[in-house]
Amino acid sequence: MSKTIIISNRLPLQISLEDNQLEVTPSVGGLATGLKSFHKDGDSIWIGWSGLTEEEIPKNLLDDVKEKARKEACVAVNLSEEEIEGFYYGFSNRTIWPLFHYFMEYTEADKEHWETYKSVNRKYADEVLKHYEDGDHIWVHDYQLLLVPNMIREKQPEATIGFFNHIPFPSYEVFRTLPWRDEVLKGVLGADLIGFHTYDYERHFLSSVSRILRHQVNFNEITLPERIVKVDSFPMGIDYNKFESAAHNHFKNTEEQRTELQRRLDHHSSETPEAKLILSIDRLDYTKGIANRIRAFEYFLDNHPEFIEKVRLVMLAVPSRSNVPQYQRLKREIDELVGRINGKFSTVSWTPIWYFYRSMPFENLIDLYTSCDIALLTPIRDGMNLVAKEFVATRINQTGVLILSEMAGAAHEMNEALIINPNNFEQISQALIQAIEMPKEEQQQRNKTLQKRLKRYSVEKWASDFMSALANTSQDREAFKAT
Ligand code: ADP
Ligand code: G6P
Repeated sequence: MSKTIIISNRLPLQISLEDNQLEVTPSVGGLATGLKSFHKDGDSIWIGWSGLTEEEIPKNLLDDVKEKARKEACVAVNLSEEEIEGFYYGFSNRTIWPLFHYFMEYTEADKEHWETYKSVNRKYADEVLKHYEDGDHIWVHDYQLLLVPNMIREKQPEATIGFFNHIPFPSYEVFRTLPWRDEVLKGVLGADLIGFHTYDYERHFLSSVSRILRHQVNFNEITLPERIVKVDSFPMGIDYNKFESAAHNHFKNTEEQRTELQRRLDHHSSETPEAKLILSIDRLDYTKGIANRIRAFEYFLDNHPEFIEKVRLVMLAVPSRSNVPQYQRLKREIDELVGRINGKFSTVSWTPIWYFYRSMPFENLIDLYTSCDIALLTPIRDGMNLVAKEFVATRINQTGVLILSEMAGAAHEMNEALIINPNNFEQISQALIQAIEMPKEEQQQRNKTLQKRLKRYSVEKWASDFMSALANTSQDREAFKAT
């Protein structure tokens, strides 16, 4: 029977070493959390990195790592420290990530990183080829593996290959600055179907293909000399039922079952019942606009002192890519900003910002989503932003207000949220006031519409739409051969 081979840089499970014992935790990030639901139901295997480098895995635990992955239908790709440095911290996260998010001043063009990126992409492609059987569908994910589709195509010309880009695709004027732009486009074009979260990313990609490689582009079809490549947008959804039922269960928790965090959150509401909790959750990443968000919150308190002691910003930043200098600098900047603002506004009974820099278990995410009144998500650029969708899905009594940056892919589908420009502090401040004062009925009306849409366009629907479109490409291939 044919299967789907999913391939992404990271596996949905992360393996780490604690006192010479292997520990397994779920991966953070939209790609892993979203795709996990598809993987668990389907007949698929998932190829990716386990989170440990070759040097870190003690020889006697090598088979255990494989076994832990195998139990979840995963295959762990072994990467050395040097490969992780050049491929992951290097080309993926110091070149492609900043460039595709329009942070050109952060974008490096290091030839050695590029060489390692190529050889590691080859390693992933070889692993796929080891597991590939005729009739399988291959689904490659994200910016770390842009060259993999064509590397597979060269060895298996008849394979059905899909590629999904989880981050923005920048405009031609930005993309053209990449020294290896031709190779990157040719790599992706090894796929039969290329998917993006939004129509804007799709049209930026098509424009780069036509202007750089001079291929003929008709609507959403690229004609290569030997094949047709389809390009389309598939906005990724969430596992709606999982978040909705987690919220239901959360409210059923007995006193003993409540987490420590929940007790603190409840304590806050009982002490200051009219005070609003404003939530933000992100990986600590410069694209997420965390520093700007804190500055906007300061602007709000400076200009509206009537809200002092009436609001609190609860900010969870999950550690991410901490070997990259920009992430280290951002961490210091946030520490400093939080310290300064808490110092400036705190009273004996109130601190304006609660800041957590750590990863939290799923039940704590649900505690935060369900206990806060407002979600303030202000990315400078974001491919999608699943946190926005998860917040709405957990609001089972339909109260709560989402304030969302127009720069997030999710904003295209979430018009009922308060949409803001993350660089406009006055607008953010006004949106906060509107959210704080919004009547309950209006909150419920907005969330009802949002929930209906999120339920319909769930992650299951996203994956099945993509996979059906991928299956249909085989007809196009036959038709093309016949011409
Ligand atoms: P990105 O993919 O850029 O990190 P998204 O908002 O699209 O941003 O996705 C973040 C995902 O990571 C969400 O699905 C969220 O639930 C998940 N997440 C955030 N914090 C944690 C955490 N501490 N533990 C597990 N998952 C988390
Ligand atoms: C984003 C990217 C994913 C990535 C995730 C977490 O969602 O699109 O490809 O896995 O961030 O980042 P990390 O570098 O920790 O894998």
